[in-house]
Amino acid sequence: MTRLFLTIFLLSALILPAQNPLFIPDTLTGSNINLLLQNGTVQFFPGQITNTMGANGNLLGPTIILNRYQQVTMNVTNMLGEPSTLHWHGMHVAPENDGGPHVVIQNNTTWSPSFQVLDWASTPWYHPHLHMKTNEHVQKGIAGMIIVRDTFEAALSLPRRYGIDDFPLVVQTKAFDNNNQIVIESALDTTVLANGTTKAFLNAPAQFVRFRLLNGSSERYYNFGFEGNKPFQMIASDGGLLTAPVNLTRIMLAPGERAEIVIDLSLYSGQSFGLMSFAAEFPNGIYGAAQPGMGAGQQIPNYTANPLNGSNFKVLDINVVTPSTNPITFISNQLVAHNPWLAAQADTTRTLTFSPVNMGPTAIQGPFVINMMPFDMMMINYYIPFENTEIWTLVNQTPIAHPFHIHNVHFYILDINGVPPPPHLAGRKDVVHVPSGNGTVRFITKFEDFHNDVFPYMYHCHMLTHEDDGFMGQFIVQSPEIGIEERKSNGFQIYPNPSTGWINVKNEVSFGYLEYSLTDVFGKVVQEGTISRSQNRISLENLCSGLYFLRFESDSNVLKVHLTH
Ligand code: C2O
Ligand code: CU
Repeated sequence: MTRLFLTIFLLSALILPAQNPLFIPDTLTGSNINLLLQNGTVQFFPGQITNTMGANGNLLGPTIILNRYQQVTMNVTNMLGEPSTLHWHGMHVAPENDGGPHVVIQNNTTWSPSFQVLDWASTPWYHPHLHMKTNEHVQKGIAGMIIVRDTFEAALSLPRRYGIDDFPLVVQTKAFDNNNQIVIESALDTTVLANGTTKAFLNAPAQFVRFRLLNGSSERYYNFGFEGNKPFQMIASDGGLLTAPVNLTRIMLAPGERAEIVIDLSLYSGQSFGLMSFAAEFPNGIYGAAQPGMGAGQQIPNYTANPLNGSNFKVLDINVVTPSTNPITFISNQLVAHNPWLAAQADTTRTLTFSPVNMGPTAIQGPFVINMMPFDMMMINYYIPFENTEIWTLVNQTPIAHPFHIHNVHFYILDINGVPPPPHLAGRKDVVHVPSGNGTVRFITKFEDFHNDVFPYMYHCHMLTHEDDGFMGQFIVQSPEIGIEERKSNGFQIYPNPSTGWINVKNEVSFGYLEYSLTDVFGKVVQEGTISRSQNRISLENLCSGLYFLRFESDSNVLKVHLTH
């Protein structure tokens, strides 16, 4: 009898805590991507099943893998029984293709934006963006990752075999009621999900492994790190690779932010450890810290009853197993060249001040507004001249930190509370954490490539409850009055553009000969040659009319050439 009890005890001790293999979403590639937004169900817990939403499944969505410069058509069919939208967060596309709140997909209809992928190798993502419904549709489950590849990234020594040494990780918390249904707005988001998996584990090979971390939560910040403070290298932020890998033991991600990290698991062969959020280390004034506000009086109902707030918790268990064949054995120590715009080059500076609508102890619960203007779908907040270089100053006069996100562009942070960004925040960004209590962030960006006098782009807080409550604004990039006369990139200028058969290159980079290559929209090299400061004319006589991409050997950017014979 005793032995039987002991056996049962041991068995349950072995089985508990119940663990689930980390779900790895399927991938979609090619020039036609079909996404079906649908209702579904998931058995998260014993007992009642949970009603969910997903893309091509019950929860989340497939990982879309795209190549820079490819043409893609996204066919998004909405079968949710209600309107929604789908936004390509972090992709540089025209406003009518961006999937913001103005581009509604009615139930039972298909939206098919078609565009060329212009992004650097990076990890954008997609999620619904219907005004006042974004949080609901994301909380119920629609969100997916996008991986953009390019030739610069492909030439580096980095893990990139999806599901083998390169893992997507969409991290979210959700609140559930007694019937196991998702509660849309609640501070009792006590369930931690990695790719929609509760209590997830991953058998990862004992070699260099890459994680693409996405904070897909509605409100919660994470302070990612490994158990035992194991070191890792951050290689990319929102908009692509950093200049060089950055050695870290923690990476904070606000809602909407991404980080690609690499850890050398060959050091931990046979061991198991957690990927954690070290939220106990958060200062107050962040959703996820012990106090969401800077002062103890500023509270969110039920916030302190949530055991995740202010404590360290596990996101994923990692079991280090046998290495794969042909593992990556080192990480490139230089990644990609960055040439941020200089503050002195800015044409315009704008200040966006965040404040609560209601003052006093409930100020932290929102709603929040930008420059005292409530959000209005019918009002354009800024008209931005095409190709304007701008500095935006974000001032947070609220007691809680907010992640500010802007569509269309990536930006470079100039400073945070007056201090230049640390290396891991010095790359291309599309979400930035603006600290509470008068925290000030300045960034610089340029509004290139797309203009449209009708469709706006959005900017907003990426805490989805705040966004839905009107912490959002919109801008139009105005069409230029004349055609594009010239293009500039890292010291190269080309003109005339559009070209009728030849272009001149102005070169501030090299006195010697420089190799160039010209590719078409399918990425095929159609012409190569050399230029110098004195021999600076490139003939395009042998090419058909169309769009080409000109690249110089010393320059990671491309110049777009419009050829019209
Ligand atoms: Cu990820 Cu406007 O959103
Ligand atoms: Cu906010």
